[in-house]
Amino acid sequence: MDRSIDRSIFLSLALASLLVGVVSARDWNILNQLKSLGSSPSQPGLVTSGLSTNLKRYCESWRFNVEVHNIRNFDVVPQECVSHVQNYMTSSQYEDDVERAVDEVILHFGSMCCSKSKCDGMDAWIFDVDDTLLSTIPYHKSNGFFGGEKLNSTKFEDWVRKRKAPPVPHMVKLYHEIRERGIKIFLISSRKEYLRSATVDNLIQAGYYGWSNLILSSYSLLDALS
Ligand SMILES: *[C@@H]1O[C@H](CO)[C@@H](O)[C@H](O)[C@H]1NC(C)=O
Repeated sequence: MDRSIDRSIFLSLALASLLVGVVSARDWNILNQLKSLGSSPSQPGLVTSGLSTNLKRYCESWRFNVEVHNIRNFDVVPQECVSHVQNYMTSSQYEDDVERAVDEVILHFGSMCCSKSKCDGMDAWIFDVDDTLLSTIPYHKSNGFFGGEKLNSTKFEDWVRKRKAPPVPHMVKLYHEIRERGIKIFLISSRKEYLRSATVDNLIQAGYYGWSNLILSSYSLLDALS
């Protein structure tokens, strides 16, 4: 796969990783940063407008650096930035950012990659499911966490079984642009095998179909990861 495609799809994948992170926020502790400025953000009323601007800029910088994969391996979104992340993920800016990434991928296809006439059936595309094809934002809305706490897998799986995840904006369009070029689509998810029928139903209801394979997490793989 061409590097620029890698980079384009990377953005839409990275946008997602804000919510499903698995990291240590140690190096990104705003409390330390604010302490060095001589104030305590934990005392209500002490945060001046200057500091809250500072916090907003800090959180925006944190979010941006997660998306470009400079910051990796965080367990949770830093507590001070949860509402910032929530605002972003539920904003039209998020949708615009995904749309920009999708447009760039499609433009790239038009210029050099496998155009419909050139495809040999040997090309493949891999999509993750959660927050790439299906949005978990409604789950986060109903639980109010937005990455501020580790995902509770029991609760999350209960939500998955409801098959109510909407598509990530603009991703149905990208998915079918790719599928219609004869590129084989593989879906890979950390969702477990016993969630297969819920996942398939949800994907189809959201507008995705015609993939070559949906690879879910087997028990042994999970054991290896935990
Ligand atoms: C996860 O959610 C379930 C169901 O609401 C609850 O019983 C359980 O205690 C939660 N687990 C953790 C680690 O919070």
